[in-house]
Amino acid sequence: MCGIVGYIGTREAVPILLDGLRRLEYRGYDSAGLAIVAGDRVLVEKKAGKIADLASYVADRDLRGSVGIGHTRWATHGEPNDLNAHPHVDCKGELAVIHNGIVENYAALKAELVSKGHRFTTETDTEVLAHLIEEHYQNNGSLEQALRAALLQVEGTFGIAVVSRREPDVLLAARRGSPLVIGLGEGEYFVASDPTALVPYTRDVTYLDDDEVAVIRRDGVLIKTLRDEQVEKKVERLAFDLERIEKGGYEHYMLKEIMEQPQTIRDSMRGRLLPEEGTAKLGGIQHEIPSLLYARRILLTACGTSWHAALIGEYLIEEFVRTPVEVEYASEFRYRDPVIDRDTVVIVISQSGETADTLAAVREAKRKGAKVFGICNVVGSSIARETDAGIYLHAGPEIGVASTKAFTSQVTVLTLLTLLLGRMRSLSAAQGRQMVAELQALPGKVEAALQTSDAVREIAQQYKDAHNFLYLGRGYNFPVALEGALKLKEISYIHAEGYPAAEMKHGPIALIDENMPVVFIATRDATYDKILSNIQEVKARRGRVIAVATEGDTEIQRYVDHVLYVPETPPYLNPIVSIVPLQLLAYHIAVLRGCNVDQPRNLAKSVTVE
Ligand code: AGP
Repeated sequence: MCGIVGYIGTREAVPILLDGLRRLEYRGYDSAGLAIVAGDRVLVEKKAGKIADLASYVADRDLRGSVGIGHTRWATHGEPNDLNAHPHVDCKGELAVIHNGIVENYAALKAELVSKGHRFTTETDTEVLAHLIEEHYQNNGSLEQALRAALLQVEGTFGIAVVSRREPDVLLAARRGSPLVIGLGEGEYFVASDPTALVPYTRDVTYLDDDEVAVIRRDGVLIKTLRDEQVEKKVERLAFDLERIEKGGYEHYMLKEIMEQPQTIRDSMRGRLLPEEGTAKLGGIQHEIPSLLYARRILLTACGTSWHAALIGEYLIEEFVRTPVEVEYASEFRYRDPVIDRDTVVIVISQSGETADTLAAVREAKRKGAKVFGICNVVGSSIARETDAGIYLHAGPEIGVASTKAFTSQVTVLTLLTLLLGRMRSLSAAQGRQMVAELQALPGKVEAALQTSDAVREIAQQYKDAHNFLYLGRGYNFPVALEGALKLKEISYIHAEGYPAAEMKHGPIALIDENMPVVFIATRDATYDKILSNIQEVKARRGRVIAVATEGDTEIQRYVDHVLYVPETPPYLNPIVSIVPLQLLAYHIAVLRGCNVDQPRNLAKSVTVE
């Protein structure tokens, strides 16, 4: 979950490293640090707090040098303070290490190193790596050999970068389980956890795979396995541009990402709809369609918001394709020996493509012989590369920690998949064409739903001090309730629960009084009358009701305290439209409470630890 950057070239390293860290800050933001090779010394500066704190701290320090590494941390071992911030150094301060991941056997390694005389100064697992490399460096000729030997002893995950004063013209990077990408410039090279940090400097990149080491000098990069075999790697070209990863005039990335949804949904559908035939075309899975079509069971697995998208996928696929679908948290799937037979197809959903539990689920499903498909946003991410085939979201980089545009694109892509498979089963051409038309109209409807922003802000003003919220919906709108509640929890720190509306009477109704705002997703569909009854049950107990309703539904005003109108859509597309006011509600409440919207406490954008 931490962010890593590295630079070797002819320019001053510090501004490049700080710039990269700012772009990676979404990955972790409790402390940060730099190590610069300056002549025959390695200078290390690190601080608890954000990148801005580090930048002002180093502003008046002499950190000149054109080789360096930088890190922004999300603490796993040891509290976030100056000492535990990365980089970490060996006993003599000759080499510095930054790390993303967890050294699972650090206690055993540390005990052994202590017995050999190494002195530890921090509570982190990462410091073990610095001393382990030092130990091998004493015996082996080069830093590279020492790093490879050390990493062969490590159990766990790492994205790591290392510099040493003894070899001032080399930057080393290695990966197992935590993403790392090498940026290729002219006479200069970059290392980063995520390509967004590289976009201002180069578009040519090479992704490291597990158990690979990059030996980077100003005149080139050599990639080897930990066992010293040279590896030929593809150079890939990054497609996104700088504007897409900057705030574009918005106060927060999250707001920008909410507002760009009409466009990102369009991008997710671009070139994939066949209006005449009334179907969809998904190039990434084209050659694997039979395994999806003839699967007896589809298992969708994911975490967090992506899991909510998977729940909607279940409703879609079962309604239109009639294949039984199960949805499971990836964290549960990976540890409970699930039943996977050759008739089961697994689809994993992940914005980042790096979520540790989801990646482990991919591996577990493959180990059991299943075909595994990925729905990912980040091109070239670990999940995208390890699945048998997949569909990209094309939603552009999502920087806000609270996922918004990725969710609507995930549901869009799941609808395209449903359309494609449904048309090969029982959906008629006319039904398919109708679905295509509805999908084409979707960006305009999301645009209209965004117009609720001012009304939402007024409601937010009234409820910003509430301690609890309940979100209720039925059918396709039940996962929307879960997602609305998650958004509020994540960024405003207000406790919120999502429930199927009919379940309210089985427990949560006990919570309702005049202090409980209840958000109903009450758009017009087959369950509308039932939802109205649920609303009245809440009102009878003096609950305050905010409803997301279908434009033109004036009846609902009689029963609720506030209405947010969204355009009419068929029920299967409702989630994409009705989530919009709920994203805005979470956003405005968080802003009014003075919360850090883009970097909520304790969270990180991609959860690469278990
Ligand atoms: C969403 O707002 C969250 N920050 C989180 O639940 C996220 O969706 C989850 O960690 C899964 O991430 P992924 O889609 O990148 O795999």
